[in-house]
Amino acid sequence: MEPNLLLPLTMAILMIIAAAATVTADYIRPPPRKTLHFPWDPKPSSLPQQVHISLAGDKHLRISWITGDKSSPSVVEYGTSPGSYSSRAKGESTSYKYLLYSSGKIHHTVIGPLEHGTIYFYRCGGQGPEFQLKTPPSQLPVTFAVAGDMGQTGWTKSTLDHIDQCKYDVHMLPGDLAYADYFQRRWDTFGELVQPLASGRPWMVTEGNHEEENIPLFKDGFQSYNARWKMPFEESGSSSNLYYSFEVAGVHVIMLGSFADYDEYSDQYSWLKADLSKVDRDRTPWLLVLFHVPWYNTNYAHQGEGDRMMAAMEPLLYAAGVDIMLAGHVHAYERSKRVYSGKSDPCGAVHITIGDGGNKEGLAQKYKSPSPEWSIFREASFGHGELKMINSTHAFWSWHRNDDDEPVRSDQVWITSLVSSGCVAEKSHELRKILMAP
Ligand SMILES: *[C@@H]1O[C@H](CO)[C@@H](O)[C@H](O)[C@H]1NC(C)=O
Repeated sequence: MEPNLLLPLTMAILMIIAAAATVTADYIRPPPRKTLHFPWDPKPSSLPQQVHISLAGDKHLRISWITGDKSSPSVVEYGTSPGSYSSRAKGESTSYKYLLYSSGKIHHTVIGPLEHGTIYFYRCGGQGPEFQLKTPPSQLPVTFAVAGDMGQTGWTKSTLDHIDQCKYDVHMLPGDLAYADYFQRRWDTFGELVQPLASGRPWMVTEGNHEEENIPLFKDGFQSYNARWKMPFEESGSSSNLYYSFEVAGVHVIMLGSFADYDEYSDQYSWLKADLSKVDRDRTPWLLVLFHVPWYNTNYAHQGEGDRMMAAMEPLLYAAGVDIMLAGHVHAYERSKRVYSGKSDPCGAVHITIGDGGNKEGLAQKYKSPSPEWSIFREASFGHGELKMINSTHAFWSWHRNDDDEPVRSDQVWITSLVSSGCVAEKSHELRKILMAP
């Protein structure tokens, strides 16, 4: 090699190495992790398993658990000091068969009235270990943990550990829980995996595509999901476990069903109108909506799948002044500006996709480019969200990426309510018109 070429060549090589170093200094997305191994661990069949709790109307909680023993009673004993139970409630039970699988006895028992912001100790079925739960506060502030598309992998475990470290009142899950995908045992292992958290704070879930498990002409969808994850649909005037609402401390939350009919002649749409007509923004200044398939999504994954539901329901929800809509489905994180009808709009909702709880399918890494003006932040990483409703005007949202098993706060934003910006008052006439229409 000519000596006078050596210097420029060395320079070029050094520059390439430097460039490569800056690229690798960027965050490197981890690969999917393996499905967790659950050793076969037969427990005494009367021992309560898969304990989880959910809100069930004002001052009430539903305690759900499973026993192998079909004669085990659906009884919960509870009280505010450990080991001494001043109250007792009896509930209902169900079970189901799915091909060769027979479920255990699935118990659902509503307890209450309970004090707000209070720790209760409880026991299921008259025996077994004592559990502890905390009821949500009666007034703002209130904090939600949010993670969708959970599954049961090493990443799910990492996400659950991070949620466990944060102070929150209620967990919200916008669909895709167990990734059982027809293997019913996986519903059981998921129930065991989440029990340490889900037995202590209400878990409010709505259905995703992985909950459906239908077999054409043979099995309707959502059999296992509805049997195991009963939500307060009756308490909120809905005729289906696939959509319902609940209220907690100044927040009205509507859980919609991406997999139930949603057109304007559907039961879901009529129920939504009835539910919105009951919302009192003086009592609950914040209005949140969750569903599985996102409406505002710039990822190539599941592109356009939410369009039909959005066309059917967005005008109504816009008139109602929904503050924030949270979805899953796309295995990545994305946050929008306030949007309506595909454009920024100061009276629209903030849309957040948070389908990155840790499932086995891995991350959705390809985004449309350029990014539209309304998309503020997007990243394909596993993680969870925390939504702190501080007072009637301010909420703080943060997204925490699972960075080598450390929760790293990667996106955060203050959100001011549509009540405080005047949007709710401005649109109240329009809302009344839609709600009054036959
Ligand atoms: C609501 O919280 C925000 C953020 O902490 C604060 O700036 C504001 O003054 C609070 N508003 C009221 C009415 O307390």
